[in-house]
Amino acid sequence: MVAQSFRNVHMGNIPPFAVITGASRGIGAEYARALAAQGYELLLVARDQTRLGQLVEEIHHSCSTQVWTETLDLAKPNAGSTLYRLAQSYRPHVSLLVNNAGFGMYGLFRDMPLETIQDMLQVHIHVTTESTRLFLPAMMNQRQGGIINIASVAGFIPIPYMAEYAATKAFIISFSEAVAMEARESGVTIQVCCPGFTETDFHQTAGHRPRHILPPHTPQNVVQTSLTALKSNKTLVTIGWQGVATQWMARFMPKRWLMHLTSRFVRQNPPSH
Ligand SMILES: NC(=O)c1ccc[n+]([C@@H]2O[C@H](COP(=O)([O-])OP(=O)(O)OC[C@H]3O[C@@H](n4cnc5c(N)ncnc54)[C@H](OP(=O)(O)O)[C@@H]3O)[C@@H](O)[C@H]2O)c1
Repeated sequence: MVAQSFRNVHMGNIPPFAVITGASRGIGAEYARALAAQGYELLLVARDQTRLGQLVEEIHHSCSTQVWTETLDLAKPNAGSTLYRLAQSYRPHVSLLVNNAGFGMYGLFRDMPLETIQDMLQVHIHVTTESTRLFLPAMMNQRQGGIINIASVAGFIPIPYMAEYAATKAFIISFSEAVAMEARESGVTIQVCCPGFTETDFHQTAGHRPRHILPPHTPQNVVQTSLTALKSNKTLVTIGWQGVATQWMARFMPKRWLMHLTSRFVRQNPPSH
């Protein structure tokens, strides 16, 4: 049986419902704007309640869709289960889950604060895995719905000075592709979206802006590409020609060369050894 198109999430007169993590700014906020414009009701999750409130106001200037917000630190243990419980308290059927929350860290791995490493493992790996496990069965029972997990082109190769970031994103790619294959005849679409350098607060939060050779994306580019690809049930999504070029390099260039090349661009100021 062929997988149902994602277009079929509209159930009669009931608007579809999307849950977006990391929706307070950047790429997550852009998913919220785009999905609100498509008539989705939304649950927006992040730690910064002020920014979430501002985004709700902004959305309500252009459309009257229902938008709920929840302040949740996804770095806390069992955050995936908390997210699921919260979503269920608003609407029992979730049409689209966007696991977008994340952050970067630049520098020598041996100097990284252990607590920040643990937070990254929790937000990128535990929350993505647990929430996919919790939200997927009901979608499969309904034979409709979708999950978008945000990885990065950083997940295509090991990246010195961003070692754990690239490794967690590699996990998200591998995990999402495998589950997408398992779910291919279920009517549920699983997408792993892999942006390259995108102009958001991400680099400021990471405390470092690497040099980049390819022109950056905007959050709008990323979200438009991802949501268009969702309609054709595409699993691995990169953005623009930059994404194609990065995928090509990751596939055909010797890994050692690529690691040398990327470490030169990532390392703006040489870390002390
Ligand atoms: N920008 C890029 O170049 C780029 C490239 C490839 C992939 N990505 C990925 O895209 C995703 C979005 O990043 P962005 O560029 O939009 O960065 P951003 O503007 O810094 O946004 C990050 C979002 O994640 C949320 N977040 C971070 N830690 C959280 C936590 N512990 N609990 C709850 N929410 C948390 C933040 O919300 P609060 O601070 O309010 O909690 C914020 O809404 C990330 O997964 C990132 O790895 C970004």
